[in-house]
Amino acid sequence: MPIRMLDYQSPEYDQMVALRYEVLRKPLGLQFSPDELARDANDILIGAFDEEEILACCILTNAGEKICRLRQMAVRNSLQGKGIGANVLAFTETIAREKGFKSLYMHARKAAQGFYEKLGYQVCSDEFEEVSIPHVEMKKNL
Ligand SMILES: CC(C)(COP(=O)(O)OP(=O)(O)OC[C@H]1O[C@@H](n2cnc3c(N)ncnc32)[C@H](O)[C@@H]1OP(=O)(O)O)[C@@H](O)C(=O)NCCC(=O)NCCS
Repeated sequence: MPIRMLDYQSPEYDQMVALRYEVLRKPLGLQFSPDELARDANDILIGAFDEEEILACCILTNAGEKICRLRQMAVRNSLQGKGIGANVLAFTETIAREKGFKSLYMHARKAAQGFYEKLGYQVCSDEFEEVSIPHVEMKKNL
């Protein structure tokens, strides 16, 4: 399963946005605003592919001071629980290290907390609400 960086506003990026909508927004009855998507322009965009079809994705945002933030981690619904998310996150951590980041954090959905814990992330905040559901901040030194 090739995992690679992809370009903003490429055909692969369009697939990525469709996957993010399907997995992360549609179940909550939410859409992406143009402003939200415009934030992707300066980020590191990562996808896992089968041939030309995207299976999973995530985004890294430079948060300054050698810290990066993981956003929009999603695995196609029918393929969850098969190790794809763990592979994508491991690849993403390697990219982050190569780019000189020293730690990675995310606003993790409470429902996904166990996934990030398995990969060495620790909760570092109280619970808060985002996109209408409970989250916690989690982080890991790279
Ligand atoms: C959360 C998500 C990215 C995980 O990816 P995945 O491919 O399903 O997970 P993997 O199969 O790689 O799982 C790796 C390990 O984490 C565990 N795990 C996966 N999802 C979990 C969850 N929601 N809660 C607890 N543990 C979980 C797996 O059991 C596995 O453990 P093992 O190594 O002991 O077998 C994916 O399920 C997903 O897209 N979920 C819906 C969207 C979402 O919540 N995204 C995260 C937003 S913060």
